[in-house]
Amino acid sequence: MLSGKNVLLGITGGIAAYKTTFLVRLLIKAGANVKVILTESASSFVSPLTLATLSKNPVLSSFIKEEVNSIDWNNHVELGLWADLMLIAPATANTLSKMANGTCDNLLLASYLSAKCPVFFAPAMDLDMYKHPSTKTSFEKLQSFGNVMIPATSGELASGLHGEGRMAEPEDILKFITTHLSEGLPLSGKKVLITAGPTYEAIDPVRFIGNHSSGMMGYELAKSAADLGAKVFLISGPSSLVMEHDNVKLIRVVSAAEMYEKAHAFYDEVDIAIAAAAVADYRPKTVADQKIKKSSDDLSLELIKNKDILLSLGEKKTKQFLVGFALETENEVENAKGKLKRKNLDAIILNSLNDKGAGFGKGTNKITFIDKNSSIKTFELKTKAAVAADILSEIIYRINA
Ligand code: CTP
Repeated sequence: MLSGKNVLLGITGGIAAYKTTFLVRLLIKAGANVKVILTESASSFVSPLTLATLSKNPVLSSFIKEEVNSIDWNNHVELGLWADLMLIAPATANTLSKMANGTCDNLLLASYLSAKCPVFFAPAMDLDMYKHPSTKTSFEKLQSFGNVMIPATSGELASGLHGEGRMAEPEDILKFITTHLSEGLPLSGKKVLITAGPTYEAIDPVRFIGNHSSGMMGYELAKSAADLGAKVFLISGPSSLVMEHDNVKLIRVVSAAEMYEKAHAFYDEVDIAIAAAAVADYRPKTVADQKIKKSSDDLSLELIKNKDILLSLGEKKTKQFLVGFALETENEVENAKGKLKRKNLDAIILNSLNDKGAGFGKGTNKITFIDKNSSIKTFELKTKAAVAADILSEIIYRINA
């Protein structure tokens, strides 16, 4: 949600300012570009050098750039335009009152007045200040401007008193912002199940039957759905890929049987399910307890069929928009349509082995999207991230139709 976003963090003078070092780290970890404006009194609570190091940007405090003895200055209008999001944390009663009344006596306030982006503020103050009608008026006024308040929490305060006024914890501030930003996105409030990667079917304690699927297509779908506001359950077979997205719950499995079990555990609650996994069709009938020794010249393994996860999801389908993949070598569209019907799908994504650049281990894919009404759309060869975005926009179009 915050990846690539420009975040202007305004820090004002309260003891909670020391926590902003963690806040900056979390914002950077979430992929945001961070610039910090520190008011003069805030610099008594937290070191500009620490914030500059963590944010990888100079910390701004005054209109004049101190290291330059010429007319160089920090342009609040540029800062306001640069920001995709402004966050004032901690926001003291003093600064909130100034923001509410249009006072403009420091760089932070001038930048606030220049910002066109969403503004969030996280108040921090003593309990009686927090409750004061004057402070409440500031909250109300700022909210009436469209600014978003991240409420303070209750607990022990710097004064030693106990009550409301503690700045929300940095993790909670980040969660609050991402949740807020995801509202209004096309998949906000929706849950999506995605299977990805290969499955490994054990032969003995050290060997398995597997395939070359990297899981990349499924992981890109998960990331893309999460970026569009969905809560995603990603059920992944063995894969070296990592998934770090607040909206994605990664469930790692090894075998087709485990993937089947996990897919069904989450299926009832989801709105969309996409089977992108390269599930092994067969598994060894028996799994040896000990490593199989090379005692004879030949070895036969008896295989039995795995349950078809997608087929079983199709049979159980109620509200879900169910999507499968098909990899075909001949009569591609007809075979894919047959699979769509047999597995009771709403759409199927056809990969053709005849398409160069498509398939396992590649960063690109070329797909044809076929829906249950036989509407067919063929896309160009694209990165798997772009393919994921195409697939999701086709799905979103249909669930909203
Ligand atoms: N699939 C599944 N569980 C299986 C096998 C496949 O969920 N045990 C899903 C895949 O994730 C994919 C779709 O079914 O979305 C297509 O699988 P594929 O193996 O290509 O098709 P099959 O129906 O098994 O037919 P065939 O292998 O004969 O082409």
